[in-house]
Amino acid sequence: MKSLKIKGGKPLSGKIHIQGSKNAVLPILAASLLGEGPVVIENCPVIGDVKDTLQIMEKLGCIICRKEEFVCVDASLADGFVIEKEQASRIRSSVLFLGALLGKIKKAVLPWPGGCAIGERPIDLHLEALRELGAIIEEYRQPGREQGEKNAGVLRADGKRMHGAAIQLRFPSVGATENIILAAVTLPGETIVEHAAREPEVDQLCEFLSLRGADIKREADTIRIRGGAVLKPICYRMQADRIVTGTYLLATAASRGAITILNFPNGLDALLLLLKKMGGEIQTKDQSLTFIMQRRACAAGFVETAPYPGFPTDLQSPLMAVLAGADGSSVLKENLFENRFKTAEELIRMGAQITVNGNCAGITGCDRLHGSRVKASDLRGGAALAIAALQASGITTMTGLEYVERGYEDIARDFRLLGAQAWVEQEKERRPDIRSAENMEDEKRRE
Ligand code: UD1
Repeated sequence: MKSLKIKGGKPLSGKIHIQGSKNAVLPILAASLLGEGPVVIENCPVIGDVKDTLQIMEKLGCIICRKEEFVCVDASLADGFVIEKEQASRIRSSVLFLGALLGKIKKAVLPWPGGCAIGERPIDLHLEALRELGAIIEEYRQPGREQGEKNAGVLRADGKRMHGAAIQLRFPSVGATENIILAAVTLPGETIVEHAAREPEVDQLCEFLSLRGADIKREADTIRIRGGAVLKPICYRMQADRIVTGTYLLATAASRGAITILNFPNGLDALLLLLKKMGGEIQTKDQSLTFIMQRRACAAGFVETAPYPGFPTDLQSPLMAVLAGADGSSVLKENLFENRFKTAEELIRMGAQITVNGNCAGITGCDRLHGSRVKASDLRGGAALAIAALQASGITTMTGLEYVERGYEDIARDFRLLGAQAWVEQEKERRPDIRSAENMEDEKRRE
């Protein structure tokens, strides 16, 4: 069992280059199934979710070459359409292969994606939209299991009669928007998606497909896709991951440091506004952004998560870790995922004063957190614990590092580069940890 160790008390300082975006590369890899290969992706993050996605693609028949952050995918001969339960259960975004496979070979079989540690995560919006595009989707449910439960069943989709359509999403789901785009881009006719997700990662998927020859236009929350394009080979460079960037800015705030992000991405305005309100100073130059916060952060007041351009749910736990040491009281409201306050329990072990009530958490900042043995149970929750550890006295040992590795290439390496004392240790399981077994099972499907 690997654990992350951090000795707190050192402010982060220095310059860093941020890894490529996880939430952009996952749909882009699914989109690499479409059209003529090969597709070369540069600055592809070296993370667990990418590894699992590439394994699914290999199983579907893609030829994959990978060297560090370069990935080459050739899907020309890929004719698989069945995603196995074992593989799908490792990664929640496997649901994106539904749209991509319907687009490519007009059929798909995949396990029903279940819930995960951060919430139930239904896919009703995905299915409704694909049906509006003419897909016939049969849902085989295991008796007694509801949508969102583990091993809930299988989805069989037939896309032979699919066509463009006008779709109005009831909620701007990121995954549903991406699934529609993946399916619609090769279909005959025009697809118009209203109330589509506005996240920058959706823009990157549209840009990737447009550069390959697709006809996609976006205006605010409306996306128009003229289907039927033959997609060409491409070499595409991933932008920096805005959630990793946000995590490192929040880590700087917690440790009272000053860092420069050399490749600052778009899409973090809500966070930057908040960091300024909390006492931070921001300087931008060309592609880089310097963030300075060398004294204790002020409380944030009331912050609620919302779809883009609102405050991102993926930064809610990292923000909570900063607020646990800030000057004053704040309230966080989580509007997207119902179980995203699990990290509060671990922060409380480190001395944080947090009261959770439904989807609201009240946080009263304390002078100093203390190092403790804590356990990550989801990706961003783990990053939050690492942030808390930077500002705590003594050493924090965090288990559950494998969750963090789903989305961060090497958080210990990056923190060390910025002057912190952080390292990874291999340790023996000290005692049977019932929570660990439950969490591993629970958290198989992730962001
Ligand atoms: C993506 C991101 C994840 C981020 C989330 C919200 C990836 C790989 N993951 O996840 O990091 O936290 O966006 O920004 O890009 N919903 C439904 N029915 C559906 C689909 C979604 O009710 O069919 C609900 C969800 O339960 C949730 C909300 O919509 O409450 C947002 O989900 P969605 O935008 O779909 O998130 P993901 O695409 O799963």
